[in-house]
Amino acid sequence: MEAIGVLVGGIAHDFNNVLAGITGNTYLAKSEINEHPERLQERLETIEALSFRSAELIKQLLTFSRRDMVDMHPLELTSLIKEAFKLIRSGIPEHININLDYPEEIILVNGDVTQIHQILMNLMNNAKDAVEHVKEPSITVALDVVDVDAAKLVTHPSCQAGKYARMRVEDNNGGIPEEHLQHLFEPFFTTKAEGKGTGLGLSMVFGAVENHHGFIEVTSKKDTGSIFEVYLPMTQTTVVTQQKETTSYHGNGELILIVDDEKALADITAQLVEKMGYHVLIAHDGLEAIEVFKAHQAAIRGILMDVIMPKCGGVEAADRIRKHAPDIGIIFATGYDQLKVTHEHIVNPSDAVLTKPYNVEALAKAISHIIDS
Ligand SMILES: Nc1ncnc2c1ncn2[C@@H]1O[C@H](COP(=O)(O)OP(=O)(O)OP(=O)(O)O)[C@@H](O)[C@H]1O
Ligand SMILES: [Mg+2]
Repeated sequence: MEAIGVLVGGIAHDFNNVLAGITGNTYLAKSEINEHPERLQERLETIEALSFRSAELIKQLLTFSRRDMVDMHPLELTSLIKEAFKLIRSGIPEHININLDYPEEIILVNGDVTQIHQILMNLMNNAKDAVEHVKEPSITVALDVVDVDAAKLVTHPSCQAGKYARMRVEDNNGGIPEEHLQHLFEPFFTTKAEGKGTGLGLSMVFGAVENHHGFIEVTSKKDTGSIFEVYLPMTQTTVVTQQKETTSYHGNGELILIVDDEKALADITAQLVEKMGYHVLIAHDGLEAIEVFKAHQAAIRGILMDVIMPKCGGVEAADRIRKHAPDIGIIFATGYDQLKVTHEHIVNPSDAVLTKPYNVEALAKAISHIIDS
């Protein structure tokens, strides 16, 4: 049980960090509207990416509650680290000099995207805190490939010799006191002020590295700083890169019914869908959805249906609507925890399931799918 508490605490902790990135970028965007409008695009993109990142953390929390834990598959580490680095960096003050070094070669590991992101985020945030009062603060993140032999593994007996990806986060804080070194990875060990640190960051990192069958080492030098090195075993499997979609999906004024009890979400979704070229109607619960549908049955071409709603949930509303219109295509919108339930209820091949928060491209594709079929 304690382990669960630590893990949940760790995810909550990372969630807060991501939120700090979102609120920080929002604050900056607001203050830059007049003076630096050219920076807005990038700020908004960062906010968007961080929002999806928090959705991933929630997903992980839910996966954990179901015990199937992590989603390991072959990943190209360099591009993942580059992307994560960019996001995390946006939350670090500009006076800190930050660099990323990476090799040209392709580095494949069997890993979980969210956990690797969490590893880097925690190490970089710790380095940021560590250099807070340093004169010329600097953080270097470096990625490379190393051969790990049996000699090195004496201290990591559960790991296997072979090629490892090494991710290094180095700062110039002047080192970690000897007496702290052995406690770093213990849950709740922190030297930070109350409210500033929970002491869960590195225990989270440790757990994530173990899940990847890797190991972590810390070197601290008084005159320079601390180096955290994460070793992840490489894999030979080829990555199935997802082809970036080139098709763009666009409507021609077809009428879509959007059902969500969360008013703000229904409104923003309606605006997105209108922007894609559709007309929209909105309903805020299952019963209202049935009524609106009946009133506009001839014109409605598809429904975007929230699953969990008061009064009458999405699955039941869909069943009742289908009594009038068996062929209507429905997109079920759901949180990750309800995904399985929702899939069991899909009765029509023309249906689709989307998880919230919506990825706009996926939403456009799903709408186009239910209209075409
Ligand atoms: N790069 C670093 N330089 C110096 N000390 C470090 C560094 N990274 C970690 N530490 C020490 O290890 C302690 C534990 O780190 P950990 O990330 O687990 O928790 P935290 O950073 O204190 O809290 P939180 O992660 O919740 O912000 C820190 O309080 C700090 O004393
Ligand atoms: Mg920390």
